[in-house]
Amino acid sequence: MNILTFNSEDKLNEAGAGLLASIVQKKPDAVLGLATGGTPVGIYEQLVKKYNDGFVSFKGASSFNLDEYVGIAPTHEQSYRYYMQQHLFNHIDIKPERTHVPNGMAEDLQAECLRYDEAIAEAGQLDIQLLGIGHNGHIGFNEPAEELSSGTHIVELAEKTRQANARYFATEEEVPRQAITMGIGSIMKAKMLLLVVKGEDKAEIVQRALQGPITTDCPASLLQTHPNLVVLLDEAAGSKLQ
Ligand code: F6R
Repeated sequence: MNILTFNSEDKLNEAGAGLLASIVQKKPDAVLGLATGGTPVGIYEQLVKKYNDGFVSFKGASSFNLDEYVGIAPTHEQSYRYYMQQHLFNHIDIKPERTHVPNGMAEDLQAECLRYDEAIAEAGQLDIQLLGIGHNGHIGFNEPAEELSSGTHIVELAEKTRQANARYFATEEEVPRQAITMGIGSIMKAKMLLLVVKGEDKAEIVQRALQGPITTDCPASLLQTHPNLVVLLDEAAGSKLQ
């Protein structure tokens, strides 16, 4: 595990974007595992800048997002598809048909999960998977549980997760109760994992995830077993590490 701590958000975002860009520079048909949420916004901004500066092109790359809410259309402002379009895809040259986000509006959600896993398998291994972490240790929407699923599946969102995500909705009631998420197995199969965490409110879970026991009670603790884990933290998020 390689943990890097930054004293400015700009430097952290630059490091994250630099790592993603370097993978695509070395392998133009790279398969990128992407995440949404507040954490990667600045990284995507930097990545768009690198594209605009002619430093990297995504025309041969493909992408798979970790998750999507169930029952929210891709055109809904809070859907993860909409987020990805706004923050990244609309501003770079990635081919739209090579960007994948689970379809939370699928009539048959189980079939959608299988379809998503097949699409990942067909694309080959993810070259890198970008991850944030929830306050309860979730990655993707793999919430703490007695058992974790390996493949893409439907999850009931934990109350803590719904409360954390309510900031994007008019009322907490509007936050979806279910999501489709890539499973732990798909995440762990990526060649490299890039975990990014910002803020004091995540300091305790960062300590548990990276230095605590490996347990399904804290899904992110499983990342400790990955052979190529890079962690980017701001000083606040890293403040409880021993
Ligand atoms: C997002 C995702 C989630 C978030 C996590 C942290 O695609 O899978 O696991 O990474 O909830 O969210 P933020 O960055 O908003 O604190």
